[in-house]
Amino acid sequence: MSRADRYLKACRKENVDCTPVWIMRQAGRYLEEYRAVRAKHSFIEVCKTPELVVEITLQPIRRFELDAAIIFADILLPLENMGIDFEFTKDEGPQISNPVRTRVAVEKMRSINPMEEMSYLMDAIRMVKRELNGQVPLIGFSGAPFTLASYITEGSGSRNYIFTKSMMYQEPHTWHLLMEKLTDMVIVYLNDQIKAGVQAIQVFDSWVGCLSPNDYREFVLPHQKRLMDSLDKSVPHIHFAFGASHLLTMVKDAGGDVIGLDWRMDIDTAWSKLGHELGVQGNLDPVALYGSRDYIKGRVQDIITRAGNRNGHIFNLGHGILPTAPTDNVKYMIELVHEASARK
Ligand code: CP3
Repeated sequence: MSRADRYLKACRKENVDCTPVWIMRQAGRYLEEYRAVRAKHSFIEVCKTPELVVEITLQPIRRFELDAAIIFADILLPLENMGIDFEFTKDEGPQISNPVRTRVAVEKMRSINPMEEMSYLMDAIRMVKRELNGQVPLIGFSGAPFTLASYITEGSGSRNYIFTKSMMYQEPHTWHLLMEKLTDMVIVYLNDQIKAGVQAIQVFDSWVGCLSPNDYREFVLPHQKRLMDSLDKSVPHIHFAFGASHLLTMVKDAGGDVIGLDWRMDIDTAWSKLGHELGVQGNLDPVALYGSRDYIKGRVQDIITRAGNRNGHIFNLGHGILPTAPTDNVKYMIELVHEASARK
């Protein structure tokens, strides 16, 4: 067995020779070869140029023994086609110039046809598949409806989510219409990525941890469940909700073959809570990579021991890798995962 099939086998809970590993945000600023491309092109330009997407998607695969590639894109891209204008600023992340805060604004949001309107991404997926030539599988992704809704109501990242929650609490019909429209969009967006050739899909609900269990149940769960139920079942679905240990059983109820975990819960506790019929992905703190070799070794070993070499564990960080992460420690961590988890 090799890195060609470990990741997909683990997603399906089949036997593997060792635990597969990939890294959220593995294509990005911590790599000097990424920064070199970005010195010549803006982030959006890169996303919309298939040749550059191919190059950047493959950079971490060439450098490290990773078991999967993830297509280089951003969760905000399809919002442009719905009529939402944004830019990526250097220091503050994404900024939306026309945030959606009223019923009329929600009604104006357009539905999209990703296969045609986002052909830059679909072409990039086909080209990456050709280049990879089966070396490792390719993951596609989308933001979850809640996380997208929070960006477009707030207009940027947020600390307290006041606009998002105000809409929920004052105008629940408007909120549900917004979530319905985003859910419809994410369903076609992901199913089109699958048609173009991605071999697994991950849904990122990065900001949903700001909600109480009650609010998740009422304002998110029905939409997230409709989304997960509507995805093409020919590929595995990974459902990652960040900062959401308190929502874990509802995240499971919403769906997904594999549940992504951050680092706020021990993986064995989380896995027992979810039930071992599901796969799990995680759960090293991204800042652990700044520790000593001994510290990193201890953390990797602990996660692998807790996962117990059970089928269905995919090793990953508990959130995206940080732009200043030391690359030699990244390499060390990946090699350690494979070594420490080798099945006897
Ligand atoms: O994982 C990968 O390697 C694929 C690429 C990828 C990017 N964004 C590229 C990117 C993925 C999977 C994402 C998802 C994404 N984008 C999420 C969900 C994952 C998470 O971290 O929770 C979110 C919340 C976003 C929104 C976003 N895009 C932010 C907040 C920012 C700016 C700050 C930051 O964290 O980078 C972006 C820009 C962005 N997306 C960059 C990259 C490499 C940086 C662009 C640059 O300056 O070069």
